[in-house]
Amino acid sequence: MDTRDISRTLEHTLPEEGLGSLGALNAYWENYGTAHTRSTGSRYFGFVTGGVTPAALAGDWLVSVIDQNVATERHSVAAFIESQVLAFISDLLNLPAGLFQGVLTTGATAANLVALSTAREWCGEQAGLHIAHDGLSASLPIMVFGAAPHSSIIKSLGVLGIGRKNIVTVRSVPGREVMDLQALEAALQGCTSPARIVVASAGTVNAGEFDDIQGIARLCRTYNAWLHVDAAFGAFARCSPVYEHLLQGLEYADSITADAHKWLNVPYDCGIALTRHPALHERSFSADAPYVPMDGRFPAFMNRGVEQSRRYRALPVWMTLMAYGKSGYRALIERNCEFVRHIESWIDHSSHYEKLCPVYLNILMFRCKSVGDRNHETHSETVLRRINATGKLFLTPSVYNGEKVFRLAACNWMTTLDDVEVVVCALQQAMEIDEREAVFTR
Ligand SMILES: Cc1ncc(COP(=O)(O)O)c(C=O)c1O
Repeated sequence: MDTRDISRTLEHTLPEEGLGSLGALNAYWENYGTAHTRSTGSRYFGFVTGGVTPAALAGDWLVSVIDQNVATERHSVAAFIESQVLAFISDLLNLPAGLFQGVLTTGATAANLVALSTAREWCGEQAGLHIAHDGLSASLPIMVFGAAPHSSIIKSLGVLGIGRKNIVTVRSVPGREVMDLQALEAALQGCTSPARIVVASAGTVNAGEFDDIQGIARLCRTYNAWLHVDAAFGAFARCSPVYEHLLQGLEYADSITADAHKWLNVPYDCGIALTRHPALHERSFSADAPYVPMDGRFPAFMNRGVEQSRRYRALPVWMTLMAYGKSGYRALIERNCEFVRHIESWIDHSSHYEKLCPVYLNILMFRCKSVGDRNHETHSETVLRRINATGKLFLTPSVYNGEKVFRLAACNWMTTLDDVEVVVCALQQAMEIDEREAVFTR
């Protein structure tokens, strides 16, 4: 079923009598069973969507069966497991033991919001303010610097009252999505507010490019700015000796965002917010609720994020990390990147397609070449539809340096080199159909 058709089936009345559990299940499956994306499959390359490992799936089912509320540490092991998972993730990312604390969130957007809220609290401190208490009416201009921040950063600035307009777009290195450090230094030098946040990207969502975190951290120290690194999917490259250099200096960040529902391949929804300033973090989110007793053995995670009642999303992460270990994740990251390099190499020799930039990690940006009077801009949408219509793979569109492109991002645990042949055949087939049709319509 085309998902566009579903809206026509919207009912405005709930049946008076229930269908029973099996009846409801059958009704769902009969009506909507064909209307899902196959986003857990090995050749779904849209956005940066991870799949679901068997261990994570088992953990997720268990979460619903035992239905714990991970608000505080009382009565349940759930908060301990969340602390354990955060420690495991720090270790997987090769961060110094105990330096970063944090919270699991619903995703990287929420993790960015949590991190920037903590950063906002720090900004207040630079001017002797307690923003969570006094509010932004204390009128402190907070300036945020970044080259290609994810849209969720801008959204967070709006939600937090910092203001979407207060992002200073730092010039990027020509033809790239990464910050030019000289431009950043000039921007920080010229900033008259003591409240400064620099947002670096470790894996831009478009091409998977990495800011020079070490160089940016040095500037943040010199000019007293908070360093937030949005590493939603890129963070996990740090567990591989082949790719860890891309994230050199991550340990100097004040806060880090990562996403477990991307490269860790746990089910939605699960993000990770880490910071080396737990006191500021909790000051920003603490809820003074006398009816919720705490004994302080483990963090009260309700004081570290937006929600008070919280899903036990740590369990699928714990299960998958325990099941596959560091070596399993290292192999997954390296396998996905190797897969993309094989596709890149095919594209490099293709007469139909061309790539737009090097592969930095696990994302390939490419388009079809302009041939004769067929301009890639005008028919790229048609070709993308044809590629996805093969049913063999799924790509999403994007724009890179002003050009329309196809974007292939690999982060599924099931993708292997066996998928290369299927993908290149489908890409070839889509272009051949396109060429045949061009002959007819000429
Ligand atoms: C770099 C980056 N930051 C933030 C996000 C937002 O993540 P989520 O969809 O989990 O909120 C994404 C998603 O692709 C991302 O790639």
